[in-house]
Amino acid sequence: MTILVTGGLGFIGSHTVVELMEQGRDCVIIDNLSKSTLNVVDRIEAVVQKKVPFLKVEMLDKIALREVFKAYNISSVIHFAGYKSVGESVKQPLLYYQNNLISTINLLEIMQEFDVKKLVFSSSATVYGDAHLPPLKEGLALSAPNPYGRTKLMLEEILRDFVAANTEWSIALMRYFNPIGAHKSGLLGEMPYGTPNNLMPHLLNAASGETEKLQIFGGDYNTEDGSCIRDFIHIMDLADGHVKALQYVEEDFGCEAFNLGTGVGYSVLNLIHTFEAVTATKIPYEIVDRRDGDIVISIADVEKATTVLGWKAKYRLKDMCIDSWRWYQTVKGYTI
Ligand code: UD1
Repeated sequence: MTILVTGGLGFIGSHTVVELMEQGRDCVIIDNLSKSTLNVVDRIEAVVQKKVPFLKVEMLDKIALREVFKAYNISSVIHFAGYKSVGESVKQPLLYYQNNLISTINLLEIMQEFDVKKLVFSSSATVYGDAHLPPLKEGLALSAPNPYGRTKLMLEEILRDFVAANTEWSIALMRYFNPIGAHKSGLLGEMPYGTPNNLMPHLLNAASGETEKLQIFGGDYNTEDGSCIRDFIHIMDLADGHVKALQYVEEDFGCEAFNLGTGVGYSVLNLIHTFEAVTATKIPYEIVDRRDGDIVISIADVEKATTVLGWKAKYRLKDMCIDSWRWYQTVKGYTI
């Protein structure tokens, strides 16, 4: 039986494929290569020392998607494919609504046609909005601050409605906190397409001298050092969380949300100083204005994932920094 991994060449998808294959699971990857590159297939194969089937498929094309289900004996799906840039979503909301919503609806329809009823869905902690005090529990009321976040929120609602009407289905909604780090081989990591949005790619550019300075968005928040606090989680812990979620949907029914975080928050300045200490680098930075839409503190409550999935993050902040840096150095000079 084969696990279909959509968006399997992206940051989270590629690491999850490695984790699945290392546990002896068969995968087929589909990706439209709009924000990723084909060489990630070679990199995954170099890590796991096995071939992995890959198909370039546009999920908005239902006929092409159906062909994948015809060609492989798919038992379950992990769905990562989707656009994820907040800024781009504000400028081009229709692109985000069309791509993220329609591709997922197409997937559900084709899964139904082929009687595949097990799905792990890539959501985000962004669905908690900014109305709650941390730690954030899965049962809180949801809201999203931008079109990207709203696609995740709408999809969670669509998936819940779908399971309510199809009770023999099983869907896990995975809410990620702040994934950083890379595979320890240095062969796989985050390859931001175009200008990066998230903190770690900017931090790596500043640490290497690629950019002059890291800009820290806001130094006057009500936190111990004035910078925002995030629940950074190692990408391999996140990948392991998906393997556990897959096992869960394989055995259970219903629709459940799970936080994937460490349950511990570090400030942006903490991250910078830890990175400097463990990699013996200096990160030039300046504190600039707050970024619109940033929440001050985001920390997961991880009890549900721990008790229901039997999953817990293992890596520490320093491992995340060391692995990110190893990856950056391996890939430096490599053009995507
Ligand atoms: C951001 C998105 C969120 C999305 C998530 C994953 C916003 C407001 N939020 O979350 O919707 O789900 O990414 O892609 O865009 N920072 C700097 N300098 C930088 C970059 C970031 O100081 O150059 C700070 C930010 O202000 C924030 C922290 O670093 O305090 C983390 O930022 P980021 O990596 O973008 O993640 P989130 O804001 O948590």
